[in-house]
Amino acid sequence: MRPNTTTARVRPAPARRRRPGRLAAAAVAALLAVAPGCTDMYDQPRYEAFEASPLFADGASSRPLVLGTVPRDDVRGLPAVEDRDLLLTGMKDGAPATEAPFAIDRAALERGRQRYDIYCTPCHGQLGDARGVIVQRGFTPPPKYTDQRLVDAPLGHFFQVITHGHGAMYSFAARVTPQDRWKIAAYIRALQLSQGAAASELPAEDQKQLEEAAK
Ligand code: HEC
Repeated sequence: MRPNTTTARVRPAPARRRRPGRLAAAAVAALLAVAPGCTDMYDQPRYEAFEASPLFADGASSRPLVLGTVPRDDVRGLPAVEDRDLLLTGMKDGAPATEAPFAIDRAALERGRQRYDIYCTPCHGQLGDARGVIVQRGFTPPPKYTDQRLVDAPLGHFFQVITHGHGAMYSFAARVTPQDRWKIAAYIRALQLSQGAAASELPAEDQKQLEEAAK
């Protein structure tokens, strides 16, 4: 008897190695035993979507949003535009749009500049010359906005890059609303113009100012 017990005692190592398998089997068995309980959890005393309810005066179980609640994907704050698809996708007739879905006025450009300064300057720099702080510290440099390819790119392209990201650049869809994306896109156009316009294209009063500054 003794030698046998000793042998059994010497063996625990392989036995222990086998134990995880046994434990897993036990866990599966235990799960199977409680699984039928899951159907009880599925059939809970709750309302299905749009089910009627005698609880509320209007007879509906679905309650209206509490005043002041802001859903994360709120589309109610969107400007009333004719072409909602354009507003949200940047596409027109199957191609990136050449114009914004709403008028770009001074206020829109100011807003675009503010949002651009917050979200884009760390990499693209204030002028869009790809010399942002993160790039100076080693991040993949983006192209300059004054590269001819981007000067020629339709406005919708910028909207889409902000929305979906582009290569090493991540998406800003969760941080920048669609209307602000258009405003940033418009501001990028302003940045391009600010570095590539002929003085003769400027309004007379700006030309005068420029001449005076050059004196
Ligand atoms: C963390 C750095 C970073 C930030 C922040 C960033 N970008 Fe970029 N962006 C890049 C990089 C890197 C590229 C080049 C990506 C590639 O080609 O792989 C790029 C490319 C672009 C392009 C060129 C796309 C093309 O067609 O080549 C545009 C336009 C652009 N970004 C706009 C923006 C705008 C607008 C913002 C702010 C909302 C922004 N980026 C924020 C890093 C950034």
